[in-house]
Order: sequence, then structure tokens, then C-alpha cells
Amino acid sequence: MLIRSRRGWELPENRATPEGFSLGRRALLAAGLAAPLLPGLARADDKYPPGRPVTPEKAATTYNNYYEFSTDKDLWEDAQALPQDPWSISFAGLVEKEQTLSLAELLRQVQLEDRVYRHRCVEAWSMVVPWTGFAMARLVALARPLGSAKFVAFTTIADKKHMPGLRMPFYPWPYIDSVTMAEATNDLAFIPTGMYGKALPPQNGGPIRIHLPWKYGFKSVKSIVKVSFLEKRPVGMWENIQSSEYGFWANVNPEVPHPRWSQASERDIGTGKRIPTQLYNGYGEFVAGLYANSTGEKLFM
Ligand code: MTE
Repeated sequence: MLIRSRRGWELPENRATPEGFSLGRRALLAAGLAAPLLPGLARADDKYPPGRPVTPEKAATTYNNYYEFSTDKDLWEDAQALPQDPWSISFAGLVEKEQTLSLAELLRQVQLEDRVYRHRCVEAWSMVVPWTGFAMARLVALARPLGSAKFVAFTTIADKKHMPGLRMPFYPWPYIDSVTMAEATNDLAFIPTGMYGKALPPQNGGPIRIHLPWKYGFKSVKSIVKVSFLEKRPVGMWENIQSSEYGFWANVNPEVPHPRWSQASERDIGTGKRIPTQLYNGYGEFVAGLYANSTGEKLFM
């Protein structure tokens, strides 16, 4: 008998929704409709086990940072106005050929998978989210960067009609942040297009965002429309506003306080409990090697 070996994040057939049998799991995931995880259950065979219960969906989708809508956390209703379809993403800068792909075209060329990640905001709150998406390394491969590219920058849509926060003149819009090529191609770097088995909601960065679980949340750019490959390190929006508080690397470290508050612990928004913060948000075994030769860099700010 042929036994197909299943990767950690794949679902056994009997856990797929009934529709899964007619539509196929991949099609369902692309449409954001499969139910990969039961909230509250952290599956033992996850590739990167979160070690904490999944945050209730309601909490993760109604307590958000998305300054293009508001500086308050309860922006989720306003964010529903952001059109999610059609959506396209352009590859720019140091690439073999600049191109713009529709989200559907992009999704046809990737392998979707489920991953449960811890998410740690620089403001010292955190959550555990079951994402559906694909490896950032795949996005980089599809963009076909030149050998001279050293950084990858992600830009959020700046939709003045639907994003009232863009009227705040103080902020240097559009929202942008970046990582090194080595970080972008590390297996942990992820591109969510879904969460809790549904399409990624606008308030969480729908229809497509990035997630870098070992870094403070502000690096995880929402609702991306442009991926740029650059030789020189770009300045992210937060670094542009206040470089002494928000740097390029922004790796999580409980021992390096933010200039205005401690980073030693964090509030889990699901349970309300304060828990100790971990170095690299607990993902050191996968990413610490990226920084082995980074002497003199402010890795944790
Ligand atoms: N992306 C954009 N475009 N605008 C933002 O304000 N906030 C960042 C990050 N990405 C932000 C953004 C911050 S500070 C955090 S903590 C996370 O998104 C929050 O993601 P969540 O709302 O899905 O929890």
C-alpha cells in the first residue's frame, strides 16, 4: 500500500470540511475557505509549534494596529471598506524584469500551507495566530531578483478613498518596511493570505501581508502591493519617524528595553495574562544564525 507522507502543516483528509471533497483543499485555501485549525487547539505536529493556545479569532481580528485606518485598536469595522478584489502586486527594482501580477496569478504559483505563529507587537502585547499562506522565499523566487539585490522592501496600499488615516499628515506614507535577502528567504518568513481558515480580513492586512514572527510586529507589513529589491538598505516608515525607538532589525529581545518601556514581558490578548518575552520571540533556533556576523548592529531595536 502506498502511504503518502504528510508534512506537519497538512491536514488529514478527514479533517477537511465537507466541501473540501468536491472543491479540493488547495482551491479552498486559495479562496480562504478551508478550516485548517480549531481555535484553541495547537496541533502537536505543527512545523513551528506555538507552545501556547491559539488566540480566539474574535480577539485577533478586533484588536489591531493599522494606522492607515486609525491609531486606535478598534478599527476593524472601518477596515471592511478596503476593496480586496481585484488586487495586484508589483515586483520592482533589482529584478530581471519588473512585473505586476494579479493576486490570483500569484496564488496559482505558490503552495499554500498552514502555520501557527506567535506574534509580538513592540507595544508589548502578543497573540498566537493560525495563518494560511506561503513561504516568502517562494515570493522572492517568483520575482527573480538580480544578484546585486541585498534588501527586500514591502509597501502597503495607500488608498486615500478608503483609508482615513492617510489624512494624518504627520506620517510619511505609504507604510513600508524591509528585510535582508537572507531574512526574506529564511523558512520562517511567511506571506499570509488567510487566518483561522478564512480569507485574511482587511483589518489584519487582507488580502495579503507579510509575517516575520521573530521580529516586532511593526516589521510585518499589511496589505502589500509592491515588493522592491534594493542594493541599499531602505528606511522603514517607523524608522523614518523615530529611529531611536524603531530600527531596521527590530528582533525581539526581552533584555533590550524600548526607550520608553520594558520588553521583558508581554500581555497575551487572548488570555489577558502577562507572560515572559523570549529572545527572537522563541524562534532563535531557526533565525539566530542569520545574525552571527552582525557585530556593531542594533539587532534588537
Ligand atoms: N502595516 C500597516 N500597513 N500599517 C500598520 O499600522 N502595524 C504594524 C503591523 N503592520 C501596521 C502594519 C504593527 S505595529 C503590528 S503589531 C501588526 O501589523 C499588527 O498586526 P495585527 O493587527 O494583524 O495584529
